[in-house]
Amino acid sequence: MSLTVDNLSKQYPTRSGSLSVLSNVSLSLEAGQALAVMGPSGSGKSTLLQIIGTLDSPSSGSVSLDGVSPFALAEPALAAFRNQHIGFVFQDHHLLPQCNVLENVLIPTLVAEDGDRATFEKEARRLLDRVGLSARLDHRPAELSGGERQRAAIARALIRKPKLLLADEPTGNLDRSSAQGIGELLSELHRQDGTILMVVTHSAELAARFPLRAEMCDGRLEPR
Ligand SMILES: Nc1ncnc2c1ncn2[C@@H]1O[C@H](COP(=O)(O)OP(=O)(O)OP(=O)(O)O)[C@@H](O)[C@H]1O
Ligand SMILES: [Mg+2]
Repeated sequence: MSLTVDNLSKQYPTRSGSLSVLSNVSLSLEAGQALAVMGPSGSGKSTLLQIIGTLDSPSSGSVSLDGVSPFALAEPALAAFRNQHIGFVFQDHHLLPQCNVLENVLIPTLVAEDGDRATFEKEARRLLDRVGLSARLDHRPAELSGGERQRAAIARALIRKPKLLLADEPTGNLDRSSAQGIGELLSELHRQDGTILMVVTHSAELAARFPLRAEMCDGRLEPR
């Protein structure tokens, strides 16, 4: 399992011309590796993560996951690829307010064709146990603490057993002790599952949990 990003560049068209956000970013990560990406606000961290996660496309350059270049795929193959291989955790949990915790974790499985409902539900319960939410299965997001919402979001990101887990400021909205709990959980799950993990964070404390660190600076990714 490997992720290769080669000479990725991104320009956004703007009313006053074109804004260069990423210039020739290259990186390569193997199964079991975790990279923390830091850098100032507006330096392109989320843009990089969104492109690697196939939620946005590059202006030039390539991304390949296990030799597959997702941008060569047309919809709906691209959506299926994303659903099967990539898990996302965002700063704001993105849980559906009208669904309970168990239902939220099962959302990515609704379009999956490689399992049945009972198997997926068993896996969701197992994951929710791993993230410490077994006693909150029927709570809606509004009935959870901030840290619990992020735990549910992490379980949802892992339900399809992704090769690649992308987290953009996963502790950005949490107090220090909840943030520590989420940091611990992410690194523990990563260690156990051997996924490739990329975490964007402003927190030096969270970044310090991961052996590989880099900083976005003027659209370039510099090792730290
Ligand atoms: N759709 C868009 N169109 C034009 N410019 C954009 C668009 N999305 C982002 N940008 C610009 O690209 C730059 C990088 O944005 P990005 O969200 O990647 O930064 P970031 O490093 O994640 O910042 P933060 O730490 O504040 O989350 C910013 O200056 C932003 O204004
Ligand atoms: Mg960002």
